[in-house]
Amino acid sequence: MSPAGSSAADASADITGRDDAAVAAAPRVQSIYVYEAPVRLWHWINALAITVLAVTGYFIGQPLPSMPGEASDYYVMGYIRFVHFAAGYALAVGLLGRAYWALVGNHHARELFTLPVTRAAYWREVRSMLAWYAFLRDRPNQYVGHNPMARLAMVLGYLVLTIFMILTGFALYSEGTGVGSWQDKVFGWVIPLIGSSQQVHSLHRLGMWLMIVFVILHVYAAIREDIMSRQSMVSTMISGYRTFKD
Ligand code: HEM
Ligand code: HEM
Repeated sequence: MSPAGSSAADASADITGRDDAAVAAAPRVQSIYVYEAPVRLWHWINALAITVLAVTGYFIGQPLPSMPGEASDYYVMGYIRFVHFAAGYALAVGLLGRAYWALVGNHHARELFTLPVTRAAYWREVRSMLAWYAFLRDRPNQYVGHNPMARLAMVLGYLVLTIFMILTGFALYSEGTGVGSWQDKVFGWVIPLIGSSQQVHSLHRLGMWLMIVFVILHVYAAIREDIMSRQSMVSTMISGYRTFKD
């Protein structure tokens, strides 16, 4: 039944499916363009790279049982390591591209790289979002870009950790490419700074588990907010538009 339509319109809607009066009276949703195409493309390539890195990295540290026969006929660890390094390059080059877009893109593209930690108003919003996530508020405040709590998680939980994974990953990689390679020239200081190759391996592996914790919380928050906050989330990272449903 149409809340605003006349009975004649209702009758015709029953036959044709059209009900222009009801459509005109329906509440409008409002959308704002937030994430530009390079940010969205980067997000999904980055998510894929990290998934591949975690799976292949897990098996680099805990290899599958060896198979009988000639190792070079199978080359299992060779392929696993190759895929890990290829995804590692995708992650690192992707982050450089994302940093470039922070300079030339819209102001939401900069949120991943900046935190207004000195502003009291920012921390007030973080507190209000914490209360919302802890089920202490009925409604969250509305934000066009990342909410202030998400921003904190993105910078500390994702950006700092990813830079650490790139530094330690390329440092380990430089052990294979050898003295004098560009990887050694750029990342050769990391292993001596941390101590030994074994320690870098262990920290790189610990980083994987921290990243998995980030991804679990991140995907939970994205889907939870999509359902509970009356603002679009997952579709925003696909289409670029944030829709405010009320
Ligand atoms: C989120 C990103 C990453 C994750 C989750 C990850 C995960 C891992 C894990 C779990 C290991 C095994 C550590 C061990 O137990 O010994 C590993 C090893 C390694 N990773 Fe990564 N990694 C990441 C990024 C990178 C990057 C950017 C590179 C650079 C190319 C890289 C290069 C390496 C190398 C060279 C090894 C050692 C391979 C070997 O000893 O055979 N990783 N990674
Ligand atoms: C390995 C997996 C993933 C990683 C590392 C990751 C990382 C990130 C990062 C760093 C951002 C900030 C983007 C920016 O400001 O440029 C972001 C945003 C976002 N991601 Fe992911 N993501 C992953 C998977 C997913 C998945 C599976 C979903 C969907 C269910 C998702 C939904 C979102 C949404 C909705 C935003 C925007 C949130 C907002 O507007 O505040 N992500 N993600």
